[in-house]
Amino acid sequence: MISEKLLSELNKQINFEFYSAHIYLAMAAYCASEDFNGFSNWFKVQAEEEKFHAMKFYNYVNDMNGRIVLEGMPNPQNDFKSLLEAFQISYNHEKIVTSKIYNLTDIATEEREHATISLLKWFIDEQVEEESNFSGLIKRLERINDDPTSLYLLDTELAARVFVPPVTTR
Ligand SMILES: [Fe+2]
Repeated sequence: MISEKLLSELNKQINFEFYSAHIYLAMAAYCASEDFNGFSNWFKVQAEEEKFHAMKFYNYVNDMNGRIVLEGMPNPQNDFKSLLEAFQISYNHEKIVTSKIYNLTDIATEEREHATISLLKWFIDEQVEEESNFSGLIKRLERINDDPTSLYLLDTELAARVFVPPVTTR
């Protein structure tokens, strides 16, 4: 059984992961409105990843006989100055997610809650990849610097992203 404190923090994280999906779906809609359908696809797949993260915490809390409490969420940002701005906001968002995962890990470690530490280890590794994806695309967008042909090629590349549920033990 997990402590009330840890349960409360895990519930916050479930809600935050769903909120992340909401943020990326709003970005997908912005990209589609600018006719960047590949970028739009990429953000939709990212939203699927976030829903997967939320459900991984959700299933864990259920397995630990904890009570899940879903909440409303703030409005996401719907308009952006550019693709680059959307990716910069996303990258900053992922850094916040990482700090939340670290904070959860600190609490689980203090409480010697080893099952939760094991779950969080998966998320720590996942965040390395998430941050790297966003920072990599920011660098490429900066290099492209609005060159239409390069943007077209990147849009085509990002159209190929598909959601593949990660192989996990639960
Ligand atoms: Fe996530």
